[in-house]
Amino acid sequence: MDERIVSQQADLEDAGLELSLRPQTLDQYIGQKKVKENLKVFIEAAKMRQETLDHVLLYGPPGLGKTTLATIIANEMGVNVRTTAGPAIERPGDLAAVLTALEPGDVLFIDEIHRLHRSIEEVLYPAMEDFCLDIVIGKGPSARSVRLDLPPFTLVGATTRVGLLTAPLRDRFGVLGRLEYYHEEELAQIVTRTSQLFDIEIETEAAFEVARRSRGTPRIANRLLRRVRDFAQVLQYDKITDVLAKDALERLQVDKLGLDHIDHKLLRGIIEKFNGGPVGLDTIAATIGEEPHTIEDVYEPYLLQIGFMKRTPRGRMVTNEVYHHFGLEVPKE
Ligand SMILES: Nc1ncnc2c1ncn2[C@@H]1O[C@H](COP(=O)(O)OP(=O)(O)O)[C@@H](O)[C@H]1O
Ligand SMILES: [Mg+2]
Repeated sequence: MDERIVSQQADLEDAGLELSLRPQTLDQYIGQKKVKENLKVFIEAAKMRQETLDHVLLYGPPGLGKTTLATIIANEMGVNVRTTAGPAIERPGDLAAVLTALEPGDVLFIDEIHRLHRSIEEVLYPAMEDFCLDIVIGKGPSARSVRLDLPPFTLVGATTRVGLLTAPLRDRFGVLGRLEYYHEEELAQIVTRTSQLFDIEIETEAAFEVARRSRGTPRIANRLLRRVRDFAQVLQYDKITDVLAKDALERLQVDKLGLDHIDHKLLRGIIEKFNGGPVGLDTIAATIGEEPHTIEDVYEPYLLQIGFMKRTPRGRMVTNEVYHHFGLEVPKE
């Protein structure tokens, strides 16, 4: 099998560590109560009927646990997971190769599924619906279509941009799971769990401090914890105290709300160059030198969530809270 297309672990960010930090079962998976409870029922029902689980679409901002959940679904079903990503599947033949290599019941995880090519989506429809593959053999007048049976499988798709999925693709998923930003307590629990895996003690208040600055996102919580742990190690602390955590986080330049220098650049850009907005996404992106889709996928969702930014028909605006946060005077109307 082509390594570029399929791997057991395609999510390369912090690959080794991510893998070991990932919870393995639904019970270890903290938060996301609604999605988790539903999945529990569907998984149990599928197992009772000895069927494959229906196709699952997971969506939400990066770092909230989509890949983790895909792996857990396979674990709970007692099957293998094959991982690939939308952009890795370039030709229909790539997808055919992946599908025909599946064992009965396997989970096929397609990350960034909104980036699948249309021509590939069309191969996926009959595969999802009837577990079969229509392939064209030969070229020109002698070309003919052959129907291949596939083993039954569960497609788990993940996307940060559910709005970009075509309706026919979205409609073929029987289970939709929308992941939400995590609450502070849940993130503190995740931080504590990760500290245990790192084999370093952490004070409750320190875990909360990291949690508060993690923008509702477990990946960020784990990343900040790793950096705080570095400080603890070098300064020869045998446990992460509240004071140490605060100090380390200050040095990392994440502010009290977890906003980093790119959030600051974005918000200050809108204030300083556009008088608070509204300003179009492309314009502000060009002004601060970031990619529009990075702003839209990674930065903006959290700023919208905490009420720091608004989307209007005329563009993005900052709210009065941003002025307060930066200690600036709110401009008069
Ligand atoms: N519910 C959770 N409980 C504990 N850790 C989590 C949870 N969700 C995510 N994580 C951790 O956060 C990191 C990012 O999760 P991941 O599944 O890669 O996010 P996504 O695929 O949505 O970008 C992983 O290291 C994982 O261990
Ligand atoms: Mg992922």
